[in-house]
Amino acid sequence: MDDLKTKYLGLINAASDEQALEDIRLQAVGKKGEVALAMRELGKMTPEERQTQGPLLNALKDEINSALAAKKAALGDAALNERLAAEWLDVSLPSRGRRMGTIHPVSQVTEEVSAIFADMGFAVAEGPQIEDDWHNFDALNIPPHHPARQEHDTFYMHRDEGDNRPPHVLRTHTSPVQIRAMMAQGAPIRVIAPGRVYRSDYDQTHTPMFHQIEGLAIDKDISMANLKWVLEEFFTAFFGTKVKTRFRASHFPFTEPSAEVDVQCSFEGGTVKVGEGNDWLEVLGSGMVHPKVLKYAGVDPSAWQGFAFGMGIDRIAMLKYGIPDLRAFFDSDLRWLRHYGFAALDVPTMRGGVSR
Ligand code: DAH
Repeated sequence: MDDLKTKYLGLINAASDEQALEDIRLQAVGKKGEVALAMRELGKMTPEERQTQGPLLNALKDEINSALAAKKAALGDAALNERLAAEWLDVSLPSRGRRMGTIHPVSQVTEEVSAIFADMGFAVAEGPQIEDDWHNFDALNIPPHHPARQEHDTFYMHRDEGDNRPPHVLRTHTSPVQIRAMMAQGAPIRVIAPGRVYRSDYDQTHTPMFHQIEGLAIDKDISMANLKWVLEEFFTAFFGTKVKTRFRASHFPFTEPSAEVDVQCSFEGGTVKVGEGNDWLEVLGSGMVHPKVLKYAGVDPSAWQGFAFGMGIDRIAMLKYGIPDLRAFFDSDLRWLRHYGFAALDVPTMRGGVSR
């Protein structure tokens, strides 16, 4: 028994891992181990011998088992210490950088434009993108069969047979928001309305969805002179340089008189630069709101008058930030978005002209 004890305590002490320990356990105190074999010998003994040997064997078994348990715990601690040393990690290191998203140029420019007009006392108004044809056309003095309805390449909403609701369109311009704002608020009023508009058209300078910003100012004595001042003030703030404007007589059903407005620019070196040179670039339509339009919107034209304008947001974004192709605005190409996008708190700066 002493031999067994010496042998197994020595083996246990020398075991280098848990598998070796398990082998030793089977060999010593397993069902067919040496201690079990010795137990079997008890049967051949006299009752007296059995009475002394039995407890001794049990004590041996207990001793081996607790040596195994102690060694197992020690090996476990050693393994854990080894892992702790090997898998050491500096949690104070800075984390891996995550790529930030960017602000789309359309969102950026919408913000810039809204901020400039807000400084001049214009609030922001909104209207639905699915608009009824009364707001989109009739109330703007574009009756059915008026050529402007065809010119707009309108997307009409599908109507089931027997659907008696008025026809709806994807709004072709932001001008219907003029009507909604005046009906909701009456006069005097000073609002801008940025948003999406839709026309069935697609080439380098046209996409079926694009963005406009509408302006409307109605009061007792507003004239074209106020319109010109507001627009020049806006372009100068937006392009960061003094910008001259040119008003050309034009026609829109919802304004009288009407004017298209050009900004001063140069086309030198294959790029457009606004605010310098002797060329002109058309950027918006405008005029004095037609008395019929005021009347449709519930504003008395004998007491109130004012101007309106509509401008392409994508267009002026291209001009300011030198973006050559409109279609890329809506391709959702991450490389384009990272290149032309803005950091969340970017301060707008000039980025040169647009190439032609
Ligand atoms: N709604 C016109 C368009 O989409 C733009 C426009 C012209 C708006 C003259 C106006 C305006 O408010 O007075 O082409």
